[in-house]
Amino acid sequence: MAVTKSHAPAGAASKDAIATLIADHRKVKELFKQFAKLKDKDDAEDEKSSLVAQICTELTIHTTIEEEIFYPAVRKQIEDEDLMDEALVEHAGAKDLIAQLEEMTPDDDLYDAKVTVLGEQIDHHVKEEEGEMFPKAKKAKVDTDELGAQVAQRRTELKAQFAEDEDEDEETPTKPAGSRRENEKPPRSV
Ligand SMILES: [Fe+2]
Repeated sequence: MAVTKSHAPAGAASKDAIATLIADHRKVKELFKQFAKLKDKDDAEDEKSSLVAQICTELTIHTTIEEEIFYPAVRKQIEDEDLMDEALVEHAGAKDLIAQLEEMTPDDDLYDAKVTVLGEQIDHHVKEEEGEMFPKAKKAKVDTDELGAQVAQRRTELKAQFAEDEDEDEETPTKPAGSRRENEKPPRSV
């Protein structure tokens, strides 16, 4: 008689949704730590700006996945509208800072401060989710395996989208003297 081990699809990247969101938290916290070390270093503009670009991409993917997939599923099953509403408002605050940082360069005033404050907001986000929302979701038996499959699929799409955007940026002919991504926007005074 044939012995079958498991019916899980071969090579499926479906992991528990909560485990993948926690992994995102760890990754981004590590990036903020790296930024903190660079803060007072001289001539670290390029390192800072590539680190911050990475932070912004990671956070945008993370918040999109949470808002599109994870939060709606959790909201349906836990009775805590306030917790879910606050999570959305906190995301909005982070997105605002991300949008500002995407328009800035490391020598702009308040650049370091904005990255630091974004990191503090994310620390708070992590505490709320890992300390409160995720335990409540587990207790309410949210199907985190099923959500994990959806999360993995959406993550792949979003990463491809970001990679495409980056390729487009690289293909755009560089303007003379344009060593940084200043795009077509006039310099902004703060
Ligand atoms: Fe999160």
